[in-house]
Amino acid sequence: MTRVFSAMQPTSDSLHLGNYLGALVEWVKLQDTHDAIYSVVDLHALTQSPDPAQLRDRTRRTAAQYLAAGVDPERSLCFVQSHVPQHAELAWALSTFTGMGEAGRMTQFKDKTQKTGESGANVGLFTYPVLMAADILLYDTDVVPVGEDQRQHLELSRNLAERLNSRLGEGTVVVPKPHIVKETAKIYDLQDPVKKMSKSGGNPKGIIEILDDPKKVAKNIKSAVTDLETQIRFDRDAKPGISNLLTIYSALSGEAVEDLEARYEGRMYGHLKSELADVVVAYLTPLHDSAMEWIDSPDRLDTVLAQGAAKASAIAQVTLDRVYDRLGLLPALHR
Ligand code: TYM
Repeated sequence: MTRVFSAMQPTSDSLHLGNYLGALVEWVKLQDTHDAIYSVVDLHALTQSPDPAQLRDRTRRTAAQYLAAGVDPERSLCFVQSHVPQHAELAWALSTFTGMGEAGRMTQFKDKTQKTGESGANVGLFTYPVLMAADILLYDTDVVPVGEDQRQHLELSRNLAERLNSRLGEGTVVVPKPHIVKETAKIYDLQDPVKKMSKSGGNPKGIIEILDDPKKVAKNIKSAVTDLETQIRFDRDAKPGISNLLTIYSALSGEAVEDLEARYEGRMYGHLKSELADVVVAYLTPLHDSAMEWIDSPDRLDTVLAQGAAKASAIAQVTLDRVYDRLGLLPALHR
């Protein structure tokens, strides 16, 4: 079976609809046909200097939302990155294969250091995509389901994999492919629909959080920024707000965008927004309830994560041993 790997950072109390539609929905589907491994990447979150208690809480909350969304621990591995030390070990080796210029070209690094300047950023933020490559390559991953904003990082993972294979011999690592679903690869901010919906910054009214109070979800949708026309049609350039609402509607209801356009012909934006608010609330309510059940049973959650980490670590060690051996590091006979 081909292998799928993906991950999210525990950097907020709740995932948002972009995380859910851009990635998590695909994770759940892919576990039917793939050998799936999903991680909560807490080491990546350290680049944002989180409060320790908050990081602990958000790590569990993120895992709880994976499980609530349908990641099935009987079929998929679900674990916390810091529990599998091989991630940091392979990242170190990969960093010696990564050019300074190559890492400096990453647009997310540039965006995140815009305010402070590069000299005000920590080195972890700079090497962040190298750790992400380690996450992926450790599991001989074939397919990585992510949103559009991770495309460039994945390209770096592919380049590093090819470089390793060319310097250390074919078969050292598997070259991963991105799995980015065009329609939902970028869900936009409701208040600023040319910007992606994002956990950090922005107007809280612009995002829909999975664990939000349904009243707030409905309010945010009803106050979404649209345009001065009245026609409900999909046109990303001329009508970014309406196009975003149609994308969300279609993804959650399974109704094609063209069918929605036909159904809303001659009707007002207010109708679309209020019916979409009902669809979103109905969709998120069971997800929210199930996530809260997991959050309220930390022991059960920790058991799932511990079992996932034990299995993930066994797979990761095989890859790490192969890479270390080809690099010329002596075998660790004490183990
Ligand atoms: P993160 O935690 O920022 O986001 C998690 C996932 O959500 C997707 N996403 C979106 N998709 C559609 N529309 C949006 N507005 C939107 N916002 C976020 C992201 O593309 C991502 O798939 N670097 C990664 C985490 C990571 C990782 C990995 C991913 C670390 N190691 C290995 C895959 C494989 C990140 O920060 O995602």
